[in-house]
Formats: sequence, structure tokens, C-alpha cells
Amino acid sequence: MNTPQLKSKVPSTSFSRRDFVKYFAAGSAVSIASLSRLNASIYQSVTSLNQKYIRDESPDGVYWDALRKHYLFQDDVIMMNNGTVGPMPKPVFNTLVKTFRRQCTNPYDVYNFISKKKNEVRIKLAQFINASPDETVINRNTTEGMNFVANGLDMGPGDEVLISDMEHPGGIHPWKLKEKRYGIAIKEVPIGLPPKNVNDFVGPFEKAISSKTKIISISHTVFISGLIAPVKELCAMAHKKGVLVVADGAHAIGMLNLNMKDMGVDFYATSPYKWLGAPTGVGVLYVKKEVQDRLWPTIASSGWDSHEGAKKFETLGQRADPIIVALGEAMDFQNVLGRERIERRIKALAGHLKKELKKIPGVKLHTSEDPNLSGGLTAFSIEGIDPQKIVNYVREKYNIVVRTVGSKEKGTYGVRVSTPTYVSYSHIELFLEGIKTLVSHKG
Ligand SMILES: Cc1ncc(COP(=O)(O)O)c(C=O)c1O
Repeated sequence: MNTPQLKSKVPSTSFSRRDFVKYFAAGSAVSIASLSRLNASIYQSVTSLNQKYIRDESPDGVYWDALRKHYLFQDDVIMMNNGTVGPMPKPVFNTLVKTFRRQCTNPYDVYNFISKKKNEVRIKLAQFINASPDETVINRNTTEGMNFVANGLDMGPGDEVLISDMEHPGGIHPWKLKEKRYGIAIKEVPIGLPPKNVNDFVGPFEKAISSKTKIISISHTVFISGLIAPVKELCAMAHKKGVLVVADGAHAIGMLNLNMKDMGVDFYATSPYKWLGAPTGVGVLYVKKEVQDRLWPTIASSGWDSHEGAKKFETLGQRADPIIVALGEAMDFQNVLGRERIERRIKALAGHLKKELKKIPGVKLHTSEDPNLSGGLTAFSIEGIDPQKIVNYVREKYNIVVRTVGSKEKGTYGVRVSTPTYVSYSHIELFLEGIKTLVSHKG
């Protein structure tokens, strides 16, 4: 378990009740100094809860209820959809506001501060995903990362990419573009709903590899089915055959305790504003050192041909740098909670949801029950009930946000539920109550 890294974050000043009132009442009028004090008070509160409850794995109770209060939610919405964009913890919001204000009010001098901060964030990020800083590209989102990989590899007519039949458009279209432009071939490999075990996933890819296959491009976090693909085992198989692997882990950072070295993947793209609580518009692309000379940068400005390592894939022109600084804060917040602990909590919530859903007549789980093949996304369908009806009902009745996924034609159409740390067992009970009501009124 990660130990809390708090000392440097907690100045001696404490945050008074009056400061809180001022913060909520005044909104943007709050000063930079008070934003810093607000963060310190939040970290102080989490640390003292850690001291009392760090070994307490109880389902709900003081610890996780308190954690939820450190998130920004409007109208008590119960966010059980972390697709597109997830919610933000207050310390991240405070740092974002503070840094944007600093940039707006002193746009020139701030560059010393921001470039120093960006370096710190890269180092922190590399540790967070167990990679080296020169393998860790800070870009804008998963879609961009997948495009950088597809566009940047030399592939010609007939060269093959293998993809699964459940990829996100952001992981399909970069290859479609390359197919049209350079005549490469895309081969689709069906994956089960869900696969029964690791071999059930890896085997079909192994069979599909031919002498023309250059790369396998798959989701680590499958957005349709909630599968956590066995990327490590897939890489071991593919690398023996000289085939590269790129994984789309859009949902992974902040949900899973990621470890690039252990996974052995060549390229990995992820979006920290879904489960990690970073601001929208900052992304991560891991490019393994050993394959960096095989990937051309897609966007070129000064440095693309002279920088060593990750920075050559980052000559993107002027950026919204405060969102990168806030990404650092998002990692601090998770590090304080402990990343293994977060993954365990998320999987415990999802496990409970699946166990209870299975008891309801007509429910078909699209997600594996194996905690090694699943994470915080649970997808399911119910015979005779339109998934959109479920989505609308739980929103109207309980203010719970979930979404539909998949397609009717492919038999993957269903409801997808996220179970991040700030969701409680009682929220899941409400959701289940809604499902049971709909099932009992069916037909
Ligand atoms: C598996 C997967 N890939 C890619 C994306 C696109 O993510 P982004 O818009 O952050 O690039 C998503 C979005 O949810 C996704 O689920």
C-alpha cells in the first residue's frame, strides 16, 4: 500500500470556518492564499482520517463518506458514469483556479514557475504509472495519443493492425485514416461478452497474427463491456512474434494502479479527467524507451528532431499549462488515499453491484466477475427492458447518472455503471432498487 505523502502539503496555517464561508459565498473572489489554505485543510482532514481508518476496509462509514465531501458535485448528483469526464476533487479545482489566476495576472513571469511545475508533474506522473519521465508524454487526451501512435509508425500497403470488435471510435479511426491514406489492413478480432479467462482473450489474437501483422491496438479498459483486458499476457505473446502493442486505457488512470513496466506494453494512452479528477484537456501517452525511435512525432515544432525521449512528442505549441499543474494535484490527492486502496475499493463496489444484479431475473452481465478481468465499469442488459429506459428512470427517481453503451446489432447494447471511490454502497442499493422496480413492472 502506498503510504500517505503529506508532509510537504500541510503548512502550519489552518483554515478557519470563516474562510470556508467566504469561499463558498464569494466563489471567484477567494484569494490565492486562501485557496492554498483550503487545500491544506482538506489534506489535513484526509490525513487524520487515514490515521484512524487506514486499515478499515468497511463498505461505507466515516472514511468514504468524508471523502465524497471533498468532491465538487452539483445538486447531490450521484455520478456513476465516469465516461467522457468525471468529477473533480476540491484540491484540484483550487489549484486549477489558483494557477490560471497566476497565469492571467502575470502572463510573462509565470513561465519560470510553470515550466518548473511541469517538470515536477512529469516526474510524479512517471512514478504514478511506473515508467521513466522520458517515456511519459503529457498530451491532451487518449484520442490524441492513439492518433500519435497510428500516425507515427511507418506502415505500408498490406501491413496489418489487429483491433478488437469493441474499440472506441478514438481507437478505431486513427487506423481507418491510415488504411485510406497508406493502404494498411485492419483485421477485427472478436472478444467475448465477456471473455471467460485470459486465454479466451489472448488466444484469438494469437491465431489472427500473420506475417503482415505489425501491431495490436486494443483497449485496456473496454468502454462497452467494462473488460480490463489482460494486456500483460497479450504483450508477452505478441512480443514473442515481433508484434507491437498499443493499449487504449482511457478510463484506467485513477481507476487502476497502473504499472507500465510490469505490463510491458509499447504504447499506452489514457485520459486523467475521467477517474483521476484532473481537468479536461490533459492526457498521457506512454512510449516505451525501446520503441521511441520507431515512432515519428505527429505535431512538429522546435525540438521534434532534437529532444530526447518523451518531449519530442510534445512540441504542441502553447498549452493550457494550469491544467497540467492541476494534474499534479489530482495525483497528490490519490496518493494520499493510496492507489492500491482506491483500486480495491472500486473493485469491491463493482463486485457487490454484479453479485446483486445477477440475482435479478432477466439480467445479463456483460462484464466479467473475475477481478483480474474487470474494474470499475459494469455493463449489463435486462431482457425486455430498453437500456435507455433504465438510464432515464434512475436519473429522474434518484439523480443517479449512468449511460447506455454498445449496439443492438452487435448484441452489446446495455447500461454501463461506474463505481468510483466516492460512490457508496447505499447509492448502489438505490440503483438496484430502481432496477428491481422496473423489472417488477415489466410486461
Ligand atoms: C476506451 C476509450 N477510448 C477512448 C476514449 C476517448 O477518450 P478522450 O475523449 O478522452 O480522448 C474513450 C472515452 O470515454 C474510451 O472510453
